[in-house]
Amino acid sequence: MKTDKPILILGIESSCDETSASVIKDCKVLANLIANQKIHELYGGVVPELASRAHQKNIVPVVDQALKESGIKKEDLSAIAFTRGPGLIGSLLVGASFAKAMALALNIPLIEVNHMQAHVLAHFINHPTLSLPKGEGKHTPSSPPLGEIREGVVFPFLCLTVSGGHTQIVLVKDHLEMAVIGETIDDAAGEAFDKAAKILGLPYPGGPLIDKYAQAGNPNAFKFSEPNIPGLNFSFSGLKTSILYFVRDKVKEDKNFIENNLNDLCASIQATIVKILIDKLITASRQRGIQEIAISGGVSANSGLRKKLISTGKKLGWNTYIPPFEYCTDNAAMIAIAGHYKFLKGEFADQNVVASARYEI
Ligand code: KG4
Ligand code: ZN
Repeated sequence: MKTDKPILILGIESSCDETSASVIKDCKVLANLIANQKIHELYGGVVPELASRAHQKNIVPVVDQALKESGIKKEDLSAIAFTRGPGLIGSLLVGASFAKAMALALNIPLIEVNHMQAHVLAHFINHPTLSLPKGEGKHTPSSPPLGEIREGVVFPFLCLTVSGGHTQIVLVKDHLEMAVIGETIDDAAGEAFDKAAKILGLPYPGGPLIDKYAQAGNPNAFKFSEPNIPGLNFSFSGLKTSILYFVRDKVKEDKNFIENNLNDLCASIQATIVKILIDKLITASRQRGIQEIAISGGVSANSGLRKKLISTGKKLGWNTYIPPFEYCTDNAAMIAIAGHYKFLKGEFADQNVVASARYEI
């Protein structure tokens, strides 16, 4: 769709346990608010019923605050984009219903977005603090200076999308033209982090805690089994079992084994997960002859994965792309960006669109 006016998109994300709203203007983030749901920590995982109730409570204040922070009036919005799926159906329904009602009330287009596609498109978010020239490296105040983060991803690229529910290698030909060329046959990488953390007695979500303790540990201290899956698919369920049995046996010998070895355990677990991910990326890059390599999704916030991607990229001559931390885990700015590209193509949804728990890219 051609337009002389700036394109202002309100993005709404409610696929799991974060209620998020974002306003972007021509791909630049004006506001990106995220309400985390702490309640799930008590249960060691996301409880779907509680998640949808929390979305119901948060959605209006979060959207209201995002609009206030962006400094724009709702009447100025060009369109509203929302996560249609994949995700928890009760959570998705809250965001979808809200977006439909608001688009109808404002008489503006409604845009449905695939959450996994949006994770990939997080690379195109123009954040106000990201202003260094191409190739110079860029970082936000909350991100460590990672010299290899580049502006302007080049098509086609491969994106390893690693989250709590998915692990995929995506061939990205254009903003809205993507194909999954490899994925997990059981657990996702984020699930592997979270389940390993649970075995170690760490609270949910354990991924960021493993990352934290791993910084002070020896990644070669312990060895865990690695999967042997042909092609570009992944498997993490065997690793989880191997960690479970190893820890169980060690605790039998010494009840303080976990606390005495927490850093080394976390570093070894993290190194194993990262190796599994990077090995498949290397295979995918060779197979497809593509050296533009990106990561996205919650697990792309992992410092071990970020460092390993950069060092592997240096060795193999890749251009590597890593989103700033705030756009790795679930956020509405990535939904708004996907909305922006769909807006340009006039890909709008009807009012009878429904949320879907399963939704392939
Ligand atoms: O993309 P995301 O926010 O939500 C889903 O769509 O699933 O990903 C959440 C996942 C969780 O499993 C969480 O433990 C993991 O990302 N995660 C991390 C880190 N930060 C988030 N895993 C390892 N290291 C981190 N720093
Ligand atoms: Zn996600």
